[in-house]
Amino acid sequence: MDATEFRRRGKEMVDYVADYLEKIENRQVYPDVEPGYLRPLIPDSAPEEPERYEDILKDVEKIIMPGVTHWHSPYFFAYFPTANSYPALLADMLSGAIGCIGFSWASSPVCTELETVMLDWLGKMINLPPQFLAEKEGEGGGVIQGTASEATLVAMLAARMKAIHRAQSENKNLTQGDIIDRLVAYTSDQAHSSVEKDSVIAGVKIKHIPTDDTFVVCGSALKKVLNEDKAAGLIPFFFCATLGTTTCCSFDKLLELGPICNQENIWMHIDAAYAGSAFICPEFRYLLNGVEFADSFNFNPHKWLLVNFDCSVMWVKKRSDLICAFKIDPVYLKHDHQESGLITDYRHWQIPLGRRFRSLKLWFVFRMYGVKGLQEHIRKHVKLAHEFKDLVLQDDRFEICADVILGLVCFRLKGSNELNEALLKSINSARKIHLVPCDMRGKFVLRFAICARTVESTHIQFAWKHITMLANELLRSQKLQ
Ligand SMILES: Cc1ncc(COP(=O)(O)O)c(C=O)c1O
Repeated sequence: MDATEFRRRGKEMVDYVADYLEKIENRQVYPDVEPGYLRPLIPDSAPEEPERYEDILKDVEKIIMPGVTHWHSPYFFAYFPTANSYPALLADMLSGAIGCIGFSWASSPVCTELETVMLDWLGKMINLPPQFLAEKEGEGGGVIQGTASEATLVAMLAARMKAIHRAQSENKNLTQGDIIDRLVAYTSDQAHSSVEKDSVIAGVKIKHIPTDDTFVVCGSALKKVLNEDKAAGLIPFFFCATLGTTTCCSFDKLLELGPICNQENIWMHIDAAYAGSAFICPEFRYLLNGVEFADSFNFNPHKWLLVNFDCSVMWVKKRSDLICAFKIDPVYLKHDHQESGLITDYRHWQIPLGRRFRSLKLWFVFRMYGVKGLQEHIRKHVKLAHEFKDLVLQDDRFEICADVILGLVCFRLKGSNELNEALLKSINSARKIHLVPCDMRGKFVLRFAICARTVESTHIQFAWKHITMLANELLRSQKLQ
């Protein structure tokens, strides 16, 4: 493909994408395919000779689309949202074309500099304490990671290194192995599974702190476990708080947990993967109170801030903590400005070396929507979640299982887990809308997450009518049995 053909095909692709997104609600939200559907539809090996572009595009509709779950359909209410907007798509296209690998300032200066400034912009949008910002020669700063899982891992590894150095400064005879054996990380019993996975990768113990009746970790629960563990000779070193748990969007009590972590020399990381985007609205910012006690904070604009995957933003109060943990400096990566103090080399802030020019997506989206446009998006989703909650509350066969604070509603039929499993099965088999469940202390609960950028009240009303129709059928068939 030469530049002339690329111009033509590119314009066609933009039309295809715009048509796909504009008419997405006409597609069945969840595919009908069975596991292994794809292999018989494509050759066993790559073609020896080049093929025609037209043939590839035809196969997109014939082979690819039948296997797609349409996450941007307004009938998709599963998991948490994944963001999608036209400015972000265009910025990603430009990022692909520039195709630089911005591991150091010298490897493509704008890639580093725009990221640092965009993270300051976003930090100010959510009113982060100034210690987390890089501007004015602060000690903190922000970085774009691929996912929240990676951000937690990076924080955990930096905290591990800090804890090792501290323990060795107190007792020179201790080996790294001795110390790592005694290190313990903590998180909520409602935390995302990625936190536990990160502890496996980091090779440290993890303990889940029991949450209260509202699925929240409070200070006393953490303190109790810390006291027991310290008495047993363990070294608590890391606590991952969650703001917006995956199960039911509950918020750990940072204002109680933060001071404890600070007193105990425990690194506090905050995982706000989904909920973090809402903090751009002043009325939801109170949920972040206590962030001033944290060492690191992360959320995913690729979930709820109209920036396509992947874009997970992370701030640290002291960037030296990351650099100290991860800095390896071979000659081929060195450059003249790295010790100048004016710039940072993001290769020391992350696990891989290579990194894409992801801040372009933030820049395009912030400028095209403005803070006001992004706030409108969040507010619309929260309003729709309350609309759905009100519909559920009007039907006394159903119950709401957790406070609706942002865009997630946890609900169920009053009755057994089997009844609710059957309801979810009939909802997802009908393929009109798509939902996933969660477990809330042994209760099988349906999660209704407001997801698509284009979802409107009509879709919420349709979804509820559909759910109640299936519930009627189910309850009727149970009575007949
Ligand atoms: C609270 C929370 N943390 C972490 C994750 C994992 O996110 P990622 O895919 O960015 O690693 C999720 C995913 O939904 C989440 O809800």
